[in-house]
Amino acid sequence: MIDLVKRPRRNRQNTWVRSMTQETFIGPQHFIYPLFIHTGTGRIPIKSMPGCDRLSLDELYLEAQAALQDDVRAIVLFPAIPEAQKTKDAKEAYNENGLIPTALRELKKRFPELVLITDVALDPYSSDGHDGLVSDQGVILNDETIEILCKQAVCQARAGADIISPSDMMDGRVGEIRKALDREGFTHVSILAYTAKYASSFYGPFRDALDSAPRFGDKKTYQMNPANAREALIEASLDEAEGADMIMVKPGGPFLDVIYRLRMHSNLPIAAYQVSGEYAMLKAAAQNGWLNEKKTVLESLMAFRRAGADVILTYYARQASRWLKEEQRY
Ligand code: PBG
Repeated sequence: MIDLVKRPRRNRQNTWVRSMTQETFIGPQHFIYPLFIHTGTGRIPIKSMPGCDRLSLDELYLEAQAALQDDVRAIVLFPAIPEAQKTKDAKEAYNENGLIPTALRELKKRFPELVLITDVALDPYSSDGHDGLVSDQGVILNDETIEILCKQAVCQARAGADIISPSDMMDGRVGEIRKALDREGFTHVSILAYTAKYASSFYGPFRDALDSAPRFGDKKTYQMNPANAREALIEASLDEAEGADMIMVKPGGPFLDVIYRLRMHSNLPIAAYQVSGEYAMLKAAAQNGWLNEKKTVLESLMAFRRAGADVILTYYARQASRWLKEEQRY
C-alpha cells in the first residue's frame, strides 16, 4: 500500500456520492432551439444536417408545439429567402409582411409561452450573401449597415420578438439597436449579442441550409479571427456598455476557453452556440456507429455549462431534453 492521504476517488465511489459532488447541471431550461424556415410548403431535409429540415410555416407551428411538449421553450428563427427577393440593399430584412415577421405574429398568437428569438443580420436577404451592406469596392459598410439592422430589429420587435440577437458583428450595433428599440417603445425587448462570433469554418452546413454563403470573399473583416481570445474581452466590454442583456460565444465547442474567459470577466448571462458544423460532426459519427450519440451529445452540452455558459443554442435541443428526461437528470 502506498502512503496516500488524498484520494480523490473517494468522491467518485458510488452513484450517490458522485451526484452529491456533481458541480454542473443541465436541463431544457438552458436550451434555445434554432429553426430554419422557408416560404414554400412542407419540410425540406438539409443534407449536411441530418434530422434538421427547412420548415414551411405550417411545419414550424407543429415543430414549435412539439418543442414545447419536450419542455423546450425558446426558439430562434432563421429564414431561407427566395433568390428573387435578395437585393444589394437587403430591404426584405425589414419587410413587415416578410417571412420572419409573419412567423413571429402567428407563433405569438398560438404559443404565448414560447420565447421568440430572432437573428439580426443581412446575409439571408443580401444578394452579396454578407451580413452587412457592400460598397462598390467590395467593402462591408459598418455605419450604413447599422441603419438597416435597426429597422430589422424594430420590425421583428413589432411582430412579437422577445429577444433580438444581432449576429452581424458590425461595430456599435448593439447600442444603436437598443436606442432604436427604446425609441419605438420596445424597452422590454432584450438583446442577446453575438459578442465573440468567429470567422469559423464550422458554419458550412448552416450556409447550405439557407443558401446564404458569401458570394465573394469571406467574413474576416467583421467576424473575429479564431486565433484571438483577448479580443473577445474587448467585444464583451463594448456590448455590455452598449446595453446587451446577454452575450454569446460562437462557435461554442471549439471556443470553450473563450466562454470561460467571458465568464471570468462578465456578470451577464452567457450563451454558447453549438453550431451547424458541430452538429454535423456528432451526427455523422453517430450515423456511422462511431460514437454513442446520446452520451456524446449530452457530454458536449454539459461541457458548455461547465465552461460557464448559461444558455446553449443547439440543434439537439428537443432530442437532448428527451434524453435528459429519460434519465431523470433534471
Ligand atoms: C448569419 C449566421 C450564421 C450562423 C448564425 N447566424 C452564419 C454566418 O455567419 O455565416 C451560423 C449558425 C450555424 O452554423 O449553426 N448571420
